[in-house]
Amino acid sequence: VEPLVFRTAVDLRRHLDTVRQSGMRIGLVPTMGALHRGHARLIQQAREDCDAVALSIFVNPLQFGPNEDYTRYPRTLAGDIALSADNGVDIVFAPEKQQMFGQRHLTFVEVNELQDRLCGPFRPGHFRGVATVVLKLFNIVEPQRAYFGEKDYQQLCIIRRMVADLDLRLEIVPVATVREPDGLAVSSRNAYLSPEERGAAPTLFHALETARSLIEAGETRPAPILKAADDILEKQPILRKEYIEIVDPADLRPVDVVDCTVRIAAAAWLGKTRLIDNVEAALGD
Ligand code: PAF
Repeated sequence: VEPLVFRTAVDLRRHLDTVRQSGMRIGLVPTMGALHRGHARLIQQAREDCDAVALSIFVNPLQFGPNEDYTRYPRTLAGDIALSADNGVDIVFAPEKQQMFGQRHLTFVEVNELQDRLCGPFRPGHFRGVATVVLKLFNIVEPQRAYFGEKDYQQLCIIRRMVADLDLRLEIVPVATVREPDGLAVSSRNAYLSPEERGAAPTLFHALETARSLIEAGETRPAPILKAADDILEKQPILRKEYIEIVDPADLRPVDVVDCTVRIAAAAWLGKTRLIDNVEAALGD
């Protein structure tokens, strides 16, 4: 069945009011389109948990820096609607830029500290843009649950913090990263990679896996773990590391010693494409 497609918040809200009146629980999958298997997993989880599944498609200008890929970000609405239909999405919300940020927009959400860690220094203003648009989407759709991929782990932490700090009445559901057979995390930005870059891309995940296996083998000192991961990354000459860190999964601060479950997160460039990935690691005994 084709989903209902709405282009304005007014029309969407009118429809959702009737959905809510019939007692249905609404799940929201916020996306920027260019849908792939990772998004399909988010939709499937929402489909399992909720009565009505809404998917938003909006390439949010606020979360792109001046030299980032806003204009060339893939826009594939027809394919996105087809993937949505195949996975049982009921409602697609695909607003124009004017709809979301048309009037003079002066209000922003900042999740301090968390927004400054990991990717923060490399993408100034990015998480402020994400938190602001996500709060708008939550207010427009008023879902009971919203689904976010663990691939964007820092984004997930920031959204959870925003929900807790601002007493938003919904549940954030994390969904595990979907990977290609060679380990590369599925991402809309993978479409930018040349064949050579695509060949090198799984190295990011291999470096994270190396770090994880050292932790599972009992290594607790971040320095040798990160050194081993760096050695893997350096073997791939076309890949340029931006960062790799072992952090506390809640506050995203680098740990001094691995004494509990941690998150290992990394970002790297292949040509003009920036990739991120992360894994969980727990100390073995
Ligand atoms: O993860 C994304 O696709 C975006 O950051 C989101 C959550 C849709 C906000 O624009």
